[in-house]
Amino acid sequence: MKNIFAAAVAAFLGAGLVQAQDAADQATQGKGIYMTICVACHQPTGAGLFPVFPPITNSEYVAGSAERLAAMILKGNAGPMTVDGKLYNNMMPGQEAVLTDEKIAAVMTYVRSNFGNSAPAVSADVVAAARKKFADRKTPWTEAELKAWKD
Ligand code: HEC
Repeated sequence: MKNIFAAAVAAFLGAGLVQAQDAADQATQGKGIYMTICVACHQPTGAGLFPVFPPITNSEYVAGSAERLAAMILKGNAGPMTVDGKLYNNMMPGQEAVLTDEKIAAVMTYVRSNFGNSAPAVSADVVAAARKKFADRKTPWTEAELKAWKD
């Protein structure tokens, strides 16, 4: 009986460790994607480059709704947008034709756990669902749409 209990506890802890390891692997993959694509604009520190590229440090868009962030990376965002009290009016290109669901989930997991952000890992199904839901959408999001976002 004792052994069964110990085995159950070990299995439970093991599952937790596997999940933690998966998230760590995903964040490592995500870092590679960030350093290849996002870095050009948001910079290695995530601080952006005022007045053209906003910071993604302590960003409500990064740490908030996972569906919204997936939708932003898929379709991009454009037009006037206030981030950290400063106005930007530029265009971020969507990555839907470039990055797979797994890669978008990985880069989301990376930015959500770095640059002062602290939000849970994201699985590829969240991105797949957003890709399907917004399949007909051809234009980047506007700040008004993003602010009014409901999952
Ligand atoms: C070509 C430059 C460029 C690339 C590449 C790029 N972005 Fe952006 N990003 C922008 C710009 C410009 C804005 C603001 C758009 C506006 O002014 O409406 C923005 C806005 C954002 C925002 C919302 C505002 C904020 O600062 O929190 C997030 C989150 C974001 N980008 C994340 C990413 C991630 C993650 C990647 C990589 C997958 C990425 N971006 C790639 C230029 C870029």
